[in-house]
Amino acid sequence: MSFRATILTLFPEMFPGPLGHSLAGRALREAIWSLDCVNIRDFGQGRHRAVDDTPFGGGAGMVLRPDVLDAAIASVTDDRPLIALTPRGRPLTQARVKTLAAAPGVILLCGRYEGFDQRVLDARNAEEISIGDYVLAGGEIAALALLDATIRLLPGVMGAAESAEDESFSAPLLEYPHYTRPADWNGHTVPDILLSGNHESIAAWRRAGSETITKTRRPDLWAHHIASQPARP
Ligand code: ADE
Repeated sequence: MSFRATILTLFPEMFPGPLGHSLAGRALREAIWSLDCVNIRDFGQGRHRAVDDTPFGGGAGMVLRPDVLDAAIASVTDDRPLIALTPRGRPLTQARVKTLAAAPGVILLCGRYEGFDQRVLDARNAEEISIGDYVLAGGEIAALALLDATIRLLPGVMGAAESAEDESFSAPLLEYPHYTRPADWNGHTVPDILLSGNHESIAAWRRAGSETITKTRRPDLWAHHIASQPARP
């Protein structure tokens, strides 16, 4: 069964965008996943199809109206998870991406302006997800990132050449550095061990590289990794 992504957005022309290319684009053409967009504007109010209004309590920006959003959601809702992209959401993790790839699909709600009226998120039990601690101008790029991460895990999307096994966040360590030809690039050479043909030493060298890079760049991941190691007897 094909993975179905439905995007609720004021900017449907942003999709599939980059997901029409490369791995995800090929998978879209092969119907491994499908995409449909709902224009929130179609559910807007009055002659001007208004979708937003000023915040109760004052403050800057505009808030997407709950009645408009609810009508847009009602037009597509089924048993797929409903996710609102917002910088206030739980940070997206590879673990959540894996569970999404096992779902029948997703319904993604993209906001602009200051955000969504909270009541519709609560009433529809929407999961709020963030793709990082920075503020995008809208949820569309976050939706693209979430879908990119999910689609590559769908069965048949990655061949052996693009294996998802041996990479950052499957194990909770960052990846070791990679090198390819030429062995000497403007005097910058490749670590000798990689040319040695000794697979055991290469694996040990890569493991050590992963550990060093994780310790220095992501002490949070390193602490998590250490805590999850079985205690030594
Ligand atoms: N919308 C705006 N910023 C966002 C972020 N960091 N993650 C998800 N959605 C967003």
